[in-house]
Amino acid sequence: MVEENLEPAERDALKTRIKALMKQQDTVLVAHYYTSADLQDLAEETGGCVSDSLEMARFGHAHPAQTLIVAGVKFMGETAKILNPEKRVLMPDLGADCSLDLSCPADAFAAWCDAHPDRLSVVYANTSAAVKARADWVVTSGIAVKIVKYLHSQGHKLLWAPDRHLGDYVQRVSGADMLLWQGSCVVHEAFKAEALKKLHAEHPAAAVLVHPESPAAVIALADVVGSTTQLIEAVKNLPNPEFIVATDNGIFHKMHAAAPGKILLEAPTAGEGATCQSCAHCPWMAMNGLRNLASVLESGANEILIEESVRAKALLSIQRMLNFAAAEKAGQIQLGD
Ligand code: 13P
Ligand code: SF4
Repeated sequence: MVEENLEPAERDALKTRIKALMKQQDTVLVAHYYTSADLQDLAEETGGCVSDSLEMARFGHAHPAQTLIVAGVKFMGETAKILNPEKRVLMPDLGADCSLDLSCPADAFAAWCDAHPDRLSVVYANTSAAVKARADWVVTSGIAVKIVKYLHSQGHKLLWAPDRHLGDYVQRVSGADMLLWQGSCVVHEAFKAEALKKLHAEHPAAAVLVHPESPAAVIALADVVGSTTQLIEAVKNLPNPEFIVATDNGIFHKMHAAAPGKILLEAPTAGEGATCQSCAHCPWMAMNGLRNLASVLESGANEILIEESVRAKALLSIQRMLNFAAAEKAGQIQLGD
């Protein structure tokens, strides 16, 4: 799970080989912001995209390439396959999981839904295809608040899975009646509020940016709470010269490029009660690299396959989110604050 350490010559040779294979195989690379700088650069150099999980889904669906390589974690590859059954979807490492996905087995989730027939189920995108197939709605962090506010305004009571911190945040902002599954992200859960306060006191001009998978005490200190894309936009658009960032440190590559000259500091994962293993970098995202990307292009291994009955059901809940996002963008959904 250690990130690649490539000599410049090996990096260049791998990138040249990968670019040739991608061209031959009509392939586009869709990478998450938490993957390595090499993968992010390669995605952009080859006409692919680097983005949050919502845009990864949108981009892969809209792009005409016959093969999608998803550099991220398994649920992102599965989402791509659910939306694009006719395309080949490959991942550098099929073992790239997510602690949220792992916390929510499909059978236990289904039993929870069965026990609460009066509630709609809303699941975070960080779940398996089978969980999405059982859910009514899928959301990503970029759109969760809007969708839950909308469902609340329609009088629905909700089940939320699997991230308890994001669920708690969405519940507080929306006022919706939600029961929360008790999963968490190993990376974001490690941020420490007291140590963050101390760091902020040392950098009073800094704006604090927090991904909502973080604990409530950390979110409470934020100037901006948002998805990875929303946090990058904040670095670009806010006038502050410094930022303290509570999300995976892979995002710094894009933040530096988006706002050169601004000072970016990692929010602390150490301090009182620290137990962090991953320390602001997702061990599963780190499983993606140029070496295994080249080898899956050569072998065709690591293809995402999903049973059709599961895929068709999961598509409905993902499509609801994408339709909502499109309608909201077109100004067809009005939400009060
Ligand atoms: P985003 O949708 O904000 O990119 O989040 C995905 C994720 O896994 C964050 O840990
Ligand atoms: Fe999952 Fe957390 Fe890794 Fe995101 S950072 S993929 S939520 S374990």
